[in-house]
This record gives sequence, C-alpha cells and structure tokens, in this order.
Amino acid sequence: MNAPTPQATAAASTAETLRAALAGLLDGLPPRQATQAVERLIANYRGRTPTDAPILRDRADVAAYAAYRMPATFEAVRGALGALADAAPEGWAPGSHVDVGGGTGAATWAVAATWAGERPVTVLDWAEPALALGRELAGAAPQLRGVRWQRSRIGSALAIESADLVTVSYVLGELTEADRRSVVDAAADAAEQAVVVIEPGTPDGYRRVIEARDRLIAAGYRIAAPCPHSAACPIEPGTDWCHFSARVSRSSLHRQVKGGSLAYEDEKFSYVAAVRFGPDPAPTRIVRRPQIRKGQVLLDLCEPDEALRRRTVTKRHGPLYRAARDADWGDAWPPPSAE
Ligand SMILES: C[S@@+](CC[C@H](N)C(=O)[O-])C[C@H]1O[C@@H](n2cnc3c(N)ncnc32)[C@H](O)[C@@H]1O
Repeated sequence: MNAPTPQATAAASTAETLRAALAGLLDGLPPRQATQAVERLIANYRGRTPTDAPILRDRADVAAYAAYRMPATFEAVRGALGALADAAPEGWAPGSHVDVGGGTGAATWAVAATWAGERPVTVLDWAEPALALGRELAGAAPQLRGVRWQRSRIGSALAIESADLVTVSYVLGELTEADRRSVVDAAADAAEQAVVVIEPGTPDGYRRVIEARDRLIAAGYRIAAPCPHSAACPIEPGTDWCHFSARVSRSSLHRQVKGGSLAYEDEKFSYVAAVRFGPDPAPTRIVRRPQIRKGQVLLDLCEPDEALRRRTVTKRHGPLYRAARDADWGDAWPPPSAE
C-alpha cells in the first residue's frame, strides 16, 4: 500500500479534531435531551422550509445540529472540494474563503482539510447561536481560530465580500426561489476564483444545484467538477438526479437517534464547483456505484460529449481493469495513474 500523502494525513487529523470537538459539545448534556433536540430539529426541517426566521434558535438546537449533521456536511463538502482541487492547476489553493449560510462552519473545516495553511475566512449566517457555536468549535483547530463569524441575512440585499472561494453548503433548500437566485448571483460576483454549491443528494437538491450551475455558467464560470464539461447536463429533468456519496463515521448520538449499531453511514450529496480559471475537469466521471461482476466491472459514466454511458471494463483491459476494481462512485475515470 502507498504511504498516505502529507495532505491526506493533515485531512485525517482535521477530521479527527472536528470529531473530538463535536463529542465535547454533548459532554454533560443528558443523552435524552440531546436526542430530543435532534428529533425536534429533524421535524422542523421537514415541516417548514423555507422559513422567515432561523430554525437554529438556541444553543441546544445548534449543538444538536452540529453533533448530528456537521460530520456529514463536512464530509460532503470535503468530497466536492477534493474534486475541485483535482481539477485546479497543480498547487492551487484558495487564498481566502467566504462561507455563505455557513452555520457552525462545516465548510470552513472542509477547506482546512483540503488545503493546508491559514487564510482569511468569513462565515455568514443569520443564526447568531450557530455562529457562536461555530466560533467555539473552531477554537479547537489552530488554522480556524482567525475565522470571522458574521451575522448576515441572505436576500436581495446580501453583499458578500470578495474572496478566492465562496461556498454555499446545504443552504439553497432553506431559501425561497428569489433568495436562491440572489445568493448564487452574489456568490458569482464575489468569488475571485471559485464557487462551490453543495446540496443534499435528492432529486430536489440536484435540481437546485443544476439551477445554480446554469446561473454560474451564465455569469462566465466554467465547471471544474463533477461534470466533464460546461455544457448542458445530459440528465433529462425528472428522470434521474446526479449525486454522490460520502462515508461518515457515526457518532454515539447518531446511534441513539437512529438505533442500530452500524459504525458509519453514507451521506448522499449533489454539488457543483465552478471556476473562473481554465479547469482540467475529469475526462469522465463515475456517476453510480461501480458494479463488480466476475471478471468485469460496470461503470456508469458521465462523458465529455454530454452523454451518460455504461462501460464494461474486463480482465482483458489489464491495468485498467485493476483500476476499475478500485474505482469509487464520484471518481474521475480513468484515474490519472491508469491513463
Ligand atoms: C442546513 S444548515 C447548513 C449549515 C452549513 N452550511 C453546513 O453545511 O453544515 C443551513 C444554514 O443556512 C442558514 N440560513 C438559512 N436561511 C438563511 C438566510 N435567509 N440568511 C442567512 N442564513 C440562512 C441557517 O441559519 C443554517 O445555518
């Protein structure tokens, strides 16, 4: 096995620091109270979006949100940023970052796990308790101690300071159609280099990502990931949805809320990473979990000619077959090492 790269080691340690900080949040909170806060939050999220006031009202809500959802949104954003990093020029890293609707700061942790070093970071959100908890958690990570946590409401008056990278993670689903348009346009104006939008991997989440993708392309951006091109998405609306999966270790709170003893769960997400520079996107992207059969691997690919195709890689393909057996949903195909 290859030794992990220094960046992979740093990423694992950032993830571990976040896990420990989140576990600390629930110290002293009776398990029953934490479970009830999560259940109330899930019910709120089901019932009333978009809302005209923050759902995350107090520290108990926010601690529950953070402990329950942040590991998953962190891993989803990390997946999207990893694909952006692969499509960016060698050595590229954002020199500054604004996270809009950033809540407790999952995307700031994901940026820190993707690119080493410190950078000016601002998190914008309308929920003060979320910002306060985000600041508290960030105290555990030296590279996040300088983050500015700023109260701001997404709407037609939203102004975002310019930054190399603007992220909008798991936010569009909480907004009206007009506010979704405003935030994507404001992100497009503010970003000097890249905008990354992440949503739940559901048909609705995908639809919102595609709307954002169209607006970013209209604003002059090119698509770095997941698409191998910046032309129209080949999925016929309503027939399917493009989404990916990130593995998330389950915390004890997860096990309390969901029951069962699985050590992990898979977070499904949709995303788009759009850039102002010339990207080097994946030659093709694996858009379903590869199916391994005897002597062959079936790969569902999004291809550069705006088409989705299933390709079969068999033993006869030699090194490519071995690469296909290791390939994962969401990976670029073929991997650079097998080209
Ligand atoms: C599901 S949480 C996602 C938080 C974080 N981005 C993440 O990925 O974990 C949605 C966030 O959007 C914020 N939000 C929703 N509507 C907003 C609005 N109109 N203005 C500012 N923030 C808003 C909420 O307060 C919340 O922190």
